[in-house]
Amino acid sequence: MQYMTTAEIREKYLSFFEEKGCKRMPSSSLIPDDPSLLLTSAGMVQFKPYFLQQKHLEAPYIGTTTVQKCVRTNDIDIIGTTGRHLSFFEMLGNFSFGEYFKEEMCAWAYEFSTEVLGLPAERLYFTVFEDDDETIEIWKALGVPENHISKLGEDDNFWRAGPTGPCGPCSEIYFDQGEEFGCGSPDCAPGCDCDRFLEYWNCVFTQYDGQEDGTLAPLPKKNIDTGMGLERIAAIMQGVQSNYETDVLRSLVSVGERLTGTVYGDDGATDLSLRIMADHSRAVTFMIADGILPSNEGRGYVLRRLLRRAVMKGHLLGLDKPFLNEYVDEIVRLMGHVYPEIVENRELARRVILSEEERFGANLRQGRAFLDEALAQLEGTVLPGEQAFILHDTYGFPVEITSELADERGIQVDLDGFEVCMNEQRERARAANTKDAEAAWSTYGGVMSDVLDATGPTEFLGYENVEADARIVALVRDGELVDALEAGDEGRIVLTRTPFYAEKGGQVGDIGCLETPDAAARVTDTQEPEKGLIAHTVVVENGRFVTGQDVHATIDAARRARICRNHTATHILHWALRKVLGDHVKQAGSLVAPNRLRFDFTHYEAVAPEQIREVECLANEKIMENHLVTYYETSLDEARKKGVMALFGEKYGEIVRVLDIEGFSTELCGGTHVGATSEIGFVKITTETSVGANLRRIEAVTSFDALAYANSIEAELKETASSLGVPMFDVSERAAANVRQLKDLNAKMKFNRETMAANDLAKLFDYVAESKQGYRVLIAEVDGFDAGQLRNGWDLARARVEHLGAVVFASVKDDRPILLAAGTPEAVEAGFDAGSVIKAIAPAVKGGGGGKPTMAQAGGKDASGVKAALQTARDMLL
Ligand code: ALA
Repeated sequence: MQYMTTAEIREKYLSFFEEKGCKRMPSSSLIPDDPSLLLTSAGMVQFKPYFLQQKHLEAPYIGTTTVQKCVRTNDIDIIGTTGRHLSFFEMLGNFSFGEYFKEEMCAWAYEFSTEVLGLPAERLYFTVFEDDDETIEIWKALGVPENHISKLGEDDNFWRAGPTGPCGPCSEIYFDQGEEFGCGSPDCAPGCDCDRFLEYWNCVFTQYDGQEDGTLAPLPKKNIDTGMGLERIAAIMQGVQSNYETDVLRSLVSVGERLTGTVYGDDGATDLSLRIMADHSRAVTFMIADGILPSNEGRGYVLRRLLRRAVMKGHLLGLDKPFLNEYVDEIVRLMGHVYPEIVENRELARRVILSEEERFGANLRQGRAFLDEALAQLEGTVLPGEQAFILHDTYGFPVEITSELADERGIQVDLDGFEVCMNEQRERARAANTKDAEAAWSTYGGVMSDVLDATGPTEFLGYENVEADARIVALVRDGELVDALEAGDEGRIVLTRTPFYAEKGGQVGDIGCLETPDAAARVTDTQEPEKGLIAHTVVVENGRFVTGQDVHATIDAARRARICRNHTATHILHWALRKVLGDHVKQAGSLVAPNRLRFDFTHYEAVAPEQIREVECLANEKIMENHLVTYYETSLDEARKKGVMALFGEKYGEIVRVLDIEGFSTELCGGTHVGATSEIGFVKITTETSVGANLRRIEAVTSFDALAYANSIEAELKETASSLGVPMFDVSERAAANVRQLKDLNAKMKFNRETMAANDLAKLFDYVAESKQGYRVLIAEVDGFDAGQLRNGWDLARARVEHLGAVVFASVKDDRPILLAAGTPEAVEAGFDAGSVIKAIAPAVKGGGGGKPTMAQAGGKDASGVKAALQTARDMLL
């Protein structure tokens, strides 16, 4: 066997299948275009629509071949403990959608393995699904001896991407690493958990579509889906014992060695940490480059968990500063030539990792201390869920990390108890969250999907037209299809075609009216409940609308014009933000309404006021230069090649619409825009805030709304100027002077109050008496003192009254009685105990309290008992 680099293997594989007639296609994003999956976990994910024959491959290709970036975290806790499990890995694959099947696939897999890679045939083993004799015969015909073929059941040899969707029996190819890798068991064979037989290629015969109810529906055609773990085959070709010793991953392990000053291979625990850091840093970098940001749910949580787990491992190796971001450059160096997105998003990845490290790092030590303490005090072997929750909530420890740390000491975490706490928190969050418009709308999902099936998508005319004639195809009231909507009814109307823009891509839906000669309805909103289906939310003002009727649809054109100005302005601001802050700025969300716009973007710190001014200035320059705004349709590939900007983490169809602002901005966008930038008039940024880790938000107004904004500020300023009695531009100076003066006055008043209080108190010093036990004690009522003032009073009395041993003070402040007893150590020595004094006298004011022998206090409910309380004190002490 000849040594091959990871890059060589990757290229040999792709060109081998290209020569066989497969189309070489790029890896798809780690964010799958498939709601049933959280992350892309196999090469076949992007081809699901092809397996289902919803999409077709163009001739003359007989299939496709890819190297796919994948993330799998189902066995995260064993990652690093074995040499073959990774959270991020590359999968080489080839796929047939009804063209070639088993015979060809097995022959090619055998040819590639033995001839291209040069693997010795005697070291290859094959498994097939238990009832698949056909495949056994195919392998045998290729020359595989019978004793190298075995049958395995559903768990090993039936492959599914998730609970539903394309799936099928599979045949796996194993490489025998040699007896010395084995577990020694007489049953050791392919499929055994030990390292002897390494599975490197899975060939799935995708024949079924798994249904929700668990049954298997046959697919229209017989397909092929294969996956070869690139790191595993690299380990074989490089003659090393684990994935972490292959060229690419070993370089990442070296980054860890360099950072920590450790040596890989010296010590099991250190190796484990170095492996986890190498693996997770790669997963995290690729996830961020595909538009995932750390968060507390979904894929953002997977990212956060991997990131924090790696940080924790570094911490255990003695790193107490952020370090994980330092892997990014090496990852880009090693893999950037295959995955341009990591080159493009290098800075973003570094910054996001760094800021997450800083955030977590601050809590890490305290969280560890909390956990150590909790574990030390623990009776039994189960850490209560509440404590895991505190670690999660206060210190940001993902519960899996807490479990792992506890597990090292043989302690389990009560995960059910943890879930209970989490659910309570979610409940609280939900209660705080008032309206969920989405949810309300989605109740119409079922019926709207029937409408879409029956009538097909709505033709959208709104890029050019503000009114149009159309026919009603469906009417919906209270979530049900109806034949007619009458005057007074609220409902939804679907038309054959419409100029109304449905809310999408941040741009709000249009409003307007639908009319027939005898009826009129107000359109209060427009939505797209199903992809391509536009639904008008209406209130029927008069007459009656029935299915099949012709209507005239007119949007509120003035409102639309304002929306268009704001939408084009968001593109210009996006461009200007990147110019001023850097290319790591990516759009992460937006709202385009008639009267304002909001733009969220990736950036790791607050934008300074000067930078905001610069962004505004650049944007307004582009507005005044009056650039033409046009659009065209093209393929997603073509758009990517041209460097058209896409929304961060967003999915697009194959044909995309490109919005081109002459000379400086091209973005994928389905929204509506002005014809030339000067129509925007003027843009003014009104706020800049944080909306999450590494996410900032600006809000802005344009044209007349910008003017109204300026006017309102001016009016406010003028009013303030007039109340201050100064010219408008002196307002800030005068306000500052006034604030200073106010502070001075407050300080003086406080001083006076305290002096008066001290004087009041001093008057009482004559009432000092001798106690039974021989120390001198002052028992007195001082009105209007709070607890702090009473304590000060004790200090004052002690300073001024010679040989004073103790005091008992009572006060009423805002109708609430307060009691204080305090004594010197000498008085305590002589028998004074502030705590028991307070206990004895507090019931008189219906209160309770306590403290130490030298100082105790109590609050109460009944101010009328103050005198009685002091009398009790006198009786007790004098
Ligand atoms: N989709 C198959 C797998 O991931 C090839 O193993």
